[in-house]
Order: sequence, then C-alpha cells, then structure tokens
Amino acid sequence: MQWLSTTEDAIPEGLGWLSALEASRIDDIRFTKRRTEYLLRRAVGKLAATTVLGLDRSPQTFARVELLNRMSGAPYVLVDGAPAGIDISLSDRAGVAVALVSPPGTLAAGTLGIDLEIVEPRTAGFVRDYLTEPEQRYVAARLESHGSDGWNAAANLLWSAKEAALKVLRVGLRADTRTVEVTIDHAVRPDGWGAMTVVGRDGTVFPGWWRRDGDFVLTIAYRAPSAPPALLPGGADLGGAIPTHSWLTRPTT
Ligand SMILES: CC(C)(COP(=O)(O)OP(=O)(O)OC[C@H]1O[C@@H](n2cnc3c(N)ncnc32)[C@H](O)[C@@H]1OP(=O)(O)O)[C@@H](O)C(=O)NCCC(=O)NCCS
Repeated sequence: MQWLSTTEDAIPEGLGWLSALEASRIDDIRFTKRRTEYLLRRAVGKLAATTVLGLDRSPQTFARVELLNRMSGAPYVLVDGAPAGIDISLSDRAGVAVALVSPPGTLAAGTLGIDLEIVEPRTAGFVRDYLTEPEQRYVAARLESHGSDGWNAAANLLWSAKEAALKVLRVGLRADTRTVEVTIDHAVRPDGWGAMTVVGRDGTVFPGWWRRDGDFVLTIAYRAPSAPPALLPGGADLGGAIPTHSWLTRPTT
C-alpha cells in the first residue's frame, strides 16, 4: 500500500483535469468549502492513482483517471472508463488531503480506509457519546499522563481510527461509532507509524497504523494485516502542513 498527502495549492487550475462526470458533480455543489474539499480529494486521489498506475500527472491524464463514488459514497477508480484494478481511500481536513492506494491488480474493493483529522478540542460529551467505555478510559488516562493535548490527541485519534475502519466496511458514519473499538500501540517506528487495531462487535479485526504529524493525526485500517504504507513521491509534507480554512473568505460560489 502507498499513501500521499497534498494541500490546496496542488489543485490544478480550471476544471479540465476532471472527467465530465466529476465536473458535473462540481456543478451541484454550492458551498465553497464542499467544492474545495471535493477538488482537493480528486487532486490527491489522481496524484496517487496516476503514480501507482505508472501514468503521467498531466491535466489530460488526470481527466482520464476518474474518482467516482458508489451509492454508499465509497470511491472507486476508472481509467478511460474501465476499472483501474486498484482500491483507493480518500480523506481531507483543514486544507490537507490524503489518499491511500493499493498496488494495481491486487484487489477487491473494500480492502483499505484512511482518515485525516486535526488535533482539536473534544468535549467530555463527545468522548462519552462516540467512544466505548474502554476507549473513554484510554482518553482519560492520556489526560492524566499528557494533559489536555493528551486528551485531545487521543479523542481525535480514536475518532479517526473508527472512520478509517468504517471506510473499509464501506458504511462510513451510517454506523454507530461504538460498534468498533480501537486499541492504540504507542510504540512509534522510525518512519513515524505506530500500530493500532480496530475490532468490530462481531469480532472482525481491522489491523492498521496511525501517525501524528504536527497538528494532524492520520490513521489507516486494512482488511488484512499489512505493513505501513510507503510514501509516494511528489506530495506535501504533512508534518509541515498548516491547517487552513480558505473557504471562510468566500463561503458560497
Ligand atoms: C465516510 C465518511 C465518514 C467520511 O466523512 P468525512 O470525515 O467528513 O470526510 P473525509 O474527507 O474523511 O472522507 C470523504 C471521502 O470518504 C469517502 N467515502 C464516503 N463514503 C464512504 C463510504 N461509505 N465508504 C468508504 N469511503 C467513503 C469518499 O471518497 C469521500 O470523498 P469523495 O466524496 O470526494 O470521494 C462520511 O462521508 C460518511 O459517513 N459517508 C456515508 C454516509 C453518507 O452520508 N453517504 C452519502 C452517500 S453519497
């Protein structure tokens, strides 16, 4: 598996780098925030997909590589209208987007999920309502040991890990976040990844990885055990990325 992050300045000019279907979806989005997020996720997804498929990164090639969505919202990739044979997962937060892709030809859909969050304040109500009891005890322990950053980092990390696993399941937040339970291993490898495990109520295990880069927490979950993803070339440095909210200056189109 391989991953990439990018920021809003990587969104190509105009809409010529989108397929006709992608461009028609843009027409339906009225709010700048949602438009920018949609474009940012297309940009990072096309960067990742073209790289693993050995294609160039020109606007013409980007338009041939479509990132469409199933009824569930789960993304899939077509090249020239045919399945590309890779699985992909996309996420964005505060002006930064990430993509996780499988190698070509390995795949059935639903093998991986990625989620990006910022470390932002989370209330006791959030922790109580969305996390399981063992997870609530973990967040409380991080408050004890690391103060308010420990609380916020833990709460956002668990939330992100749940979203990553629920993306593998292709249900997203239609599911109750307490139906999956996250365990974090705090031993971080030299490449920045630490191990985590998400377990569903039916006992399904989603092995995964997490990392903290500056203000961001990033998680990935897999259907089956796999090494941490390798970083694709040509992306942004997540550790140096500054959370931005560019849409605030122009909320509607
Ligand atoms: C999956 C979900 C939790 C992500 O929400 P989020 O944290 O606000 O957004 P992120 O940036 O992390 O992820 C967005 C991406 O998740 C992916 N996604 C959406 N639904 C998904 C699903 N059911 N399974 C896997 N991935 C999904 C998409 O690629 C989406 O980007 P895109 O629409 O540009 O392709 C949320 O979209 C969700 O719960 N979706 C399912 C319910 C729903 O309302 N679906 C609408 C159907 S169109």
